[in-house]
Amino acid sequence: MKKVLITGGAGFIGSHTADLLSSKGYSIRILDNLEPPVHDFEWPNYIKSRGYDLIKGDVTDKKILTNALRDTDYVIHLAAHQDQMPNFSKFFMTNTVSTALIFEIIMENKFPVKKLVYSSSQFVYGDGIYVSSSGKEFFPELRTEKQMKEKNWEIFDDENKQAKFTEFNEEQKVNPTNSYGLSKIASEEMLLRLGKTYGIPVSILRYSIVQGARQSPRNVYSGALRIFVTQALAGRPITVTEDGNQLRDFVNIEDVVRANVLMIEDSRTDFERYNVGGGKGYKIKDFAEMVKKITNSSSEILIDGRYRRTDTRHAISDISKLKNLGWCPENTPEKSIKDYADWIKKENFNLEEIVTNAKKSSEELV
Ligand SMILES: NC(=O)c1ccc[n+]([C@@H]2O[C@H](COP(=O)([O-])OP(=O)(O)OC[C@H]3O[C@@H](n4cnc5c(N)ncnc54)[C@H](O)[C@@H]3O)[C@@H](O)[C@H]2O)c1
Repeated sequence: MKKVLITGGAGFIGSHTADLLSSKGYSIRILDNLEPPVHDFEWPNYIKSRGYDLIKGDVTDKKILTNALRDTDYVIHLAAHQDQMPNFSKFFMTNTVSTALIFEIIMENKFPVKKLVYSSSQFVYGDGIYVSSSGKEFFPELRTEKQMKEKNWEIFDDENKQAKFTEFNEEQKVNPTNSYGLSKIASEEMLLRLGKTYGIPVSILRYSIVQGARQSPRNVYSGALRIFVTQALAGRPITVTEDGNQLRDFVNIEDVVRANVLMIEDSRTDFERYNVGGGKGYKIKDFAEMVKKITNSSSEILIDGRYRRTDTRHAISDISKLKNLGWCPENTPEKSIKDYADWIKKENFNLEEIVTNAKKSSEELV
């Protein structure tokens, strides 16, 4: 039986990946530190009863990581620090140093790991490529605080005309707008370099916004689905940033999990990077309407000019490279909203507390 180590496997994407792999006959080992705010140092119920080999520990602890990597055939490295607070160094400690450690341990111990799969993010593109009114491509800088305060949300070209967004593709230059994205791209480059040098196949997945059940409502970094659903269920205003016309693509967890498994099972994916998205852009304000309708909420949708400093204006990934391998997103955002809302209700979270804490933390967001 092939053994897969999933770092961060107690989390949203990791636990679903474990379940699919287990149903296909893989043996599962999970390494997770179960830190707040995502967890409360306890294994979540959806992990406890599955019979997985569970290791509680930090992915930056070399001794613990060495034990976790022993006798594993594949590694899916999902453990990551994710928020938008100004704790810049923690992103690199957790997300990048851990990636280096995995290689270090494999090499030192001559562990026969067959493949590493890494969870990167659409965030590495930043605002991506825009096309000016005269047809010239350019890479916009992060919008200025002044621009945001003036509610001037769009991206403009040299002639101060609104420029046109283009979908992200894997070959384009990356331009992350925050430490999270920077830590991910540093890991990506390290994986490809060390993997090729030492003959360890790697695959890199740049997920768009992943949605579905088990996404911790306490994870401040998780996006519109968590914010809107918890607000809608708590009967509080659904707060939309900017003017709500920003575009995002959403991908359902079941589709993401199939992509993860494909990386292990298809050697055409060795040393490649793939976007994993929903293939379609939605305006955030329309997504808020979808949440309101599906949750049957009477909350008002509040668009009052609030913003997050490092948010990109639009983010949609071109998924044709992954589709060429036969993968295709099969689930809709409507399904994700329903699954997530059902799960939140079932778990009996204290929604008032969650919405209030989220509001407090959002005041610290960078
Ligand atoms: N969810 C998304 O929309 C999305 C989008 C792009 C990329 N990603 C990436 O996918 C991966 C999984 O994300 P997720 O949505 O499942 O998040 P999650 O928070 O639900 O899961 C991450 C898990 O990693 C664990 N973890 C964090 N730091 C750790 C450490 N130092 N040692 C051991 N475990 C640690 C957490 O306890 C958690 O269980 C992350 O790398 C994330 O950056 C997620």
